[in-house]
Amino acid sequence: MPENRQVVIASLPTGALAESDFELQTVGVPEPGPGQVLCRTLAVSVSAGSRAGLQGSASYAGAPKTGIVMSSLAVARVERSNDPALSPGDVVTCGAGWQDWSVHPAQQCFRVEGSADPARYLGVLGTNGLTAYFGLLEVGEPKPGDTVVVSAAAGSVGHLVGQIARIQGCRVVGVAGSDEKCQRLVAELGFDAAVSHRSPDFRQEFKAACGDGIDVYFDNTGGDVLGAALFRMRNGGRIACCGVVSQYDTSKPAPGPRGVPGLLVNKRLRMQGFLVFDWAQRYGEARAQLESWLDSGELVAWQDEFEGLESAPRALVDLLAGGNVGTRIVRVSPG
Ligand SMILES: NC(=O)c1ccc[n+]([C@@H]2O[C@H](COP(=O)([O-])OP(=O)(O)OC[C@H]3O[C@@H](n4cnc5c(N)ncnc54)[C@H](OP(=O)(O)O)[C@@H]3O)[C@@H](O)[C@H]2O)c1
Repeated sequence: MPENRQVVIASLPTGALAESDFELQTVGVPEPGPGQVLCRTLAVSVSAGSRAGLQGSASYAGAPKTGIVMSSLAVARVERSNDPALSPGDVVTCGAGWQDWSVHPAQQCFRVEGSADPARYLGVLGTNGLTAYFGLLEVGEPKPGDTVVVSAAAGSVGHLVGQIARIQGCRVVGVAGSDEKCQRLVAELGFDAAVSHRSPDFRQEFKAACGDGIDVYFDNTGGDVLGAALFRMRNGGRIACCGVVSQYDTSKPAPGPRGVPGLLVNKRLRMQGFLVFDWAQRYGEARAQLESWLDSGELVAWQDEFEGLESAPRALVDLLAGGNVGTRIVRVSPG
């Protein structure tokens, strides 16, 4: 009889997240009820937003609590189905969380088509790819020739934002956490420049990289990088507020940057937050475009991987310290 290993939240972090905030437990495999399917997890996503959920700052995640399975998106294989819409063997995305087996209403599982690695639906064709696509194109509204800056540029959302901006004919500047990440953004993904936020000369290097100023800033981090970008915005610029990863891994987030609202007024800036779910009706259109760019080689999807469910806490703690390049997933079972 198979068992269900689960990574549960043992304690809510009061400072930086630690692996000891999680526990591995083993329970029985759940039974699907009418209209439900039993799924076996193939891979789970590990993302910055998970830390926001534990902090209680992600509106869509509700209040954080202990004793529950750590939530996450997953790709999974349907093993049993009590709904005609799905059959055993179908591969789906679902909100399985960090566990081997889970039960879901069939309507909350989305079939993954094609022969490519289904884990792409946790990255470039999943929430983060869609976030990059809609956040940049609909909120940032880049035009050919614009200078577009993106923070956490080597991360899951960020590396896609920069490439989509390049495809739109923009000049692209990335901000990332190491010289190696910066070099890879330029050499492998065609960014025009990249600057490390850990450099002691970050402000000067950032100013030089931004040239005549920034037309679109895609903000994944808030904090000091947002502070620096605000002062370099051109008149009429747009700031797409996607997330605040610099302030997630703490119980004492820093107050907002200087210059708001004065800079917004004088430079006629638009600073707009968004949640990707606002474009749920258009996901199909975005996925078709992202797949076409992948097929043509214009878009490259970086994915980094951990092996085994028990490594998920380590994978998240390490991501928050900047250990990931592109989308981070954990392979749970071989498929
Ligand atoms: N609005 C939405 O609908 C939506 C949807 C999905 C994700 N998001 C947001 O998108 C952002 C990116 O998420 P992701 O999943 O793609 O994560 P990610 O960028 O793959 O990983 C987080 C990265 O943040 C960087 N970072 C950590 N602490 C930092 C700090 N103090 N200052 C600057 N950078 C720091 C690290 O890279 P470095 O090495 O570069 O420091 C790390 O690799 C998050 O804010 C997330 O909440 C929003």
